[in-house]
Amino acid sequence: MKEKLSQIKEMAIKRLADANNLKTLDDLRVEILGKKGELTQILKGMGSLSKEERPIIGQLANEVRTEIETKLEEAKAHLTAKAQEAKLKAETIDVTMPGKVTELGHKHPMTQVIDEIKNIFIGMGYEIAEGPEVETAYYNFEALNIPKDHPARDEQDTFYINGKGDLLLRTQTSPMQVRVMENKKPPIRIIAPGRVYRADEVDATHSPIFHQLEGLVIDKGITMGDLKGALAEFAKGLFGEDTKVRFRPHHFPFTEPSAEMDASCFACGGKGCRVCKDSGWIEVLGCGMVHPKVLEMSGIDPKVYSGFAFGMGLERVAMQKYAISDLRLLFENDAKFLKQF
Ligand code: DAH
Repeated sequence: MKEKLSQIKEMAIKRLADANNLKTLDDLRVEILGKKGELTQILKGMGSLSKEERPIIGQLANEVRTEIETKLEEAKAHLTAKAQEAKLKAETIDVTMPGKVTELGHKHPMTQVIDEIKNIFIGMGYEIAEGPEVETAYYNFEALNIPKDHPARDEQDTFYINGKGDLLLRTQTSPMQVRVMENKKPPIRIIAPGRVYRADEVDATHSPIFHQLEGLVIDKGITMGDLKGALAEFAKGLFGEDTKVRFRPHHFPFTEPSAEMDASCFACGGKGCRVCKDSGWIEVLGCGMVHPKVLEMSGIDPKVYSGFAFGMGLERVAMQKYAISDLRLLFENDAKFLKQF
């Protein structure tokens, strides 16, 4: 019996040492120490032993059991540690690997220019006004004192939406002057940036869709001096503190008197270069004192109020600022081109 027990022990220890995973180990536990195991059978059969033998064999059997249990625990601890180590190894993160960089988009150069101009005027107390791109002929022309036979109303320049000629894609942001005056009491100080449309062929300087920014100031006692002061300030904000401006007489149906404003070239400071085509000046905007007829049609009494308006093409500003030579580049959405700004 003693021999049998030591045999069971030897065998168990050997098999435990060979077990190389936790599952095998658990199967072994059941087999060796379980109800059907040899050891349990021996302990169960103790009753048939003699009185002298019983305590000796009993003690021995319990010792064997304890020893096997200890070995089992040891093997289990060892295998658990090994499994843990393997898992950690498999899950290692290499912190020296280069990260995946998500490419960030950025604002289109047109949006950048519009935002910049908006900020300059917001800083001067102007509000932003927005209006429809599909406009009536009344707002786009009539209310701006553009009579029926004016060349600007020629079918060639305007995209009409219906055959009657009273619905169109706005050719300028100036109708916003009228819309604002109809809805707001003076003092008025607004800018209205937005898309405008003209039936032009596409080339390096023309596009059937482009952007303008309109400005309007109405209050009691507004003079040409206010116009010059505000626009000179704007030019400095856009092109730099040293920028000078000059006003040339011009004609627009909705302003009287009218002018065009040039700014000293920001690229050469006025000496003459490629940007200003050697003139030292760049054309920036059209402007003037709002025509009394326009005030009147919009419900504002020209005897009480006066004001000035201005309008500029924004693509040209972007092209000058960023030295872009072809207008089409601003509409093609070529990522390689746009990335430069
Ligand atoms: N609407 C004019 C154009 O499209 C630009 C313009 C000129 C707007 C003079 C104005 C202005 O408000 O006073 O050419």
